[in-house]
Amino acid sequence: MNNIFSDRISDVPRSFIREILKVAVDTSVISFAGGLPNRDLFPVAELQAAVNKVFESAGKEVLQYSNSEGYPKLREYISRRYLEKKGLDIPVENILITSGSQQGLDLLGKTFLNEGDDVIIEEPGYLGAIQAFSVYKSVFNPVRVTEDGMDVDGLKEVISARSPKLMYSVPNFQNPSGISYSVKNRSAIADVLKSTSTLLIEDDPYGDLRFTGDEKESFGKILPEKTILLGSFSKTIVPSFRLGWITAPNNDVMEKLIIAKQASDLHTNYFIQRVICQYIADNDLQKHIDKIIKVYNSQRLAMVRSIEKYFPSGVSHTHPEGGMFLWATLPEGTSSMELFDFAIKDKVAFVPGIPFYINKEKTNTLRLNFSCVDEETIETGIKRLGKSIEKIIS
Ligand SMILES: Cc1ncc(COP(=O)(O)O)c(C=O)c1O
Repeated sequence: MNNIFSDRISDVPRSFIREILKVAVDTSVISFAGGLPNRDLFPVAELQAAVNKVFESAGKEVLQYSNSEGYPKLREYISRRYLEKKGLDIPVENILITSGSQQGLDLLGKTFLNEGDDVIIEEPGYLGAIQAFSVYKSVFNPVRVTEDGMDVDGLKEVISARSPKLMYSVPNFQNPSGISYSVKNRSAIADVLKSTSTLLIEDDPYGDLRFTGDEKESFGKILPEKTILLGSFSKTIVPSFRLGWITAPNNDVMEKLIIAKQASDLHTNYFIQRVICQYIADNDLQKHIDKIIKVYNSQRLAMVRSIEKYFPSGVSHTHPEGGMFLWATLPEGTSSMELFDFAIKDKVAFVPGIPFYINKEKTNTLRLNFSCVDEETIETGIKRLGKSIEKIIS
């Protein structure tokens, strides 16, 4: 059977997280393993009202095929929000609506990557990007990220050795680590990239979910001619609608992305684009985002407090200013995969760091998600995990 599959798909593994989540389905397990937005915050009634209104006002039209670029009013909204929130001037013509930002990654792979092309990826990095680019058989060049951002010397080394086509980054509240690139780090990266042919992808699905600290300038502002922005409504409205977007730095790139989009699915679900537009017109999206921020921030604080109370000394963690994830590092020489087995027996789950690295067999790191668990349960879960950690350390 194996030889009927393309080389492209044969070498790409299933999502490790989806596999690991199967172990955590037992309802007595407290799970910090998922990466889902909190469903209690979904604006169900408001979306239902928007659905009804769209059907009533444009029933037949919204059920027809539509254009590949996306609904013009939605693209205009995205362009306006970039200007108001980030001071970015992104022309509407350079915004392509996608089926989630995950499709944006696939379209970028399709548009830019030949087999063997080099891509810079954060270490640890977003699993969905690793999976999306793996299909195009790219060569990954991991560059370490720390609490300050990307290791600039590591970046310089990769650039001079490999001249990569793309650099993939999540500079705000990164998945998996929760770190953000500092202002200084962003400007150092821009300095390195500006005289190269490498294009920078800034994937920013969590950027609106800032709890603390100042908004940092987007690469779209400091390196506009080389930056491709990916955005999404998954974390601010709902993920199931699969609505995201990609911005092109110039018309040539946009033209090719549209071709890639047409070849993939002609266009993103038009009805859903209209529903989101209606929802945004009838509601205060920023107010809704502020509500999400308030809840996630309380949950983040509960997690940090509990870690400091229950984890043995020698375990460090990141200090996310937003988003949904926190990253912990166990003492040197311990394995988070081994911890996982103990933790499941103690009825708590997390994602071991291993899938977020390229070519590593053992790590002492783990990802903890705080968006879906209430404060009291966070304390109970972290207490359990603290006990499991003590077991593997001793
Ligand atoms: C960094 C990052 N990029 C992209 C995505 C995919 O988001 P979407 O739902 O917009 O496809 C995720 C989802 O978790 C993510 O964490």
